[in-house]
Amino acid sequence: MKILVATEKPFAAAAVSGIKEIAQAGGHDVALLEKYTSPEQLLKAVADADALIVRSDKVTREVVNAAKNLKIVVRAGAGYDNICLDACTERGIVVMNTPGQNSNAVAELAIAMMIFMSRNCFTPGTGSEIKGKKVGIQAFGNVGKLVAAKARALGMEVMAFDPFVDSSVMESEGVTPAASVEEMYAACDFISLHIPATPQTKESIGYDLLTRMPAGGCLVNTARKEVINEAELEKALADRPDLKYITDISAVHQAELDEKFGKRVFATPKKMGAETAEANINAGLAAARQIVEYFATGCTRFQVNAR
Ligand code: 3PG
Repeated sequence: MKILVATEKPFAAAAVSGIKEIAQAGGHDVALLEKYTSPEQLLKAVADADALIVRSDKVTREVVNAAKNLKIVVRAGAGYDNICLDACTERGIVVMNTPGQNSNAVAELAIAMMIFMSRNCFTPGTGSEIKGKKVGIQAFGNVGKLVAAKARALGMEVMAFDPFVDSSVMESEGVTPAASVEEMYAACDFISLHIPATPQTKESIGYDLLTRMPAGGCLVNTARKEVINEAELEKALADRPDLKYITDISAVHQAELDEKFGKRVFATPKKMGAETAEANINAGLAAARQIVEYFATGCTRFQVNAR
């Protein structure tokens, strides 16, 4: 079988060689499409691929249609909002993710972002410490749990809101469960977002929640830009000159936000949450193993689309 690794943002070299080793040991070939600059390059490259490994690369209906032999797509990472699941399901193509494999890298970045914003974006002036501050974790999944543990180790108080996780799970990890998302925003100096982009969460973070935050509140987004209502974020930042926003995924109007709000907002130049060699190796190799196992045994563990 031919496995195409299509990564606009390439994996570390060690991850690519690990993927090749695993695929070849399973009797498969690997083709690489890295740093591509147009969707047409992906359309051409998938034409004869049996399996596809991607990161945030957009696997649209058009891509699926162009991939006549495609049987499996693995998103080397957590969020699969970049893949047209319906198009895959209609063709009987299995879609998987690799949950947890890059979570530590993202969690470390979330903590780094809190410190960066507390220290004037590393520019001169008196900052503050995160020790003793309260952080609210919005969604207690793989990344949220790691941020909670690291924040506690740094002396922060940790609260979490997740309607899908039992409060006893949070309590067992020293985290205070919030009865509502509103209660959490009202109580926390930092909110760290770890929700996926779904029809339910899109534009769900806006003026009402943000303006509940205490003085100096800071929203940390290592999740997705789509969960933010940007117009309302801008209004909240304008009405509350103490609020701050840091994101790993630039807003659509990021340049405008930067100009209006200066050091109160910051966006990384390119999404870097999972940009560590460790995360690339963990997620990339897991993706390769999942594909080899699927072809060998039909195992569909981690399938995310309807069967
Ligand atoms: C994920 O969903 O796994 C993260 O957002 C990382 O995405 P990336 O692989 O594009 O860096």
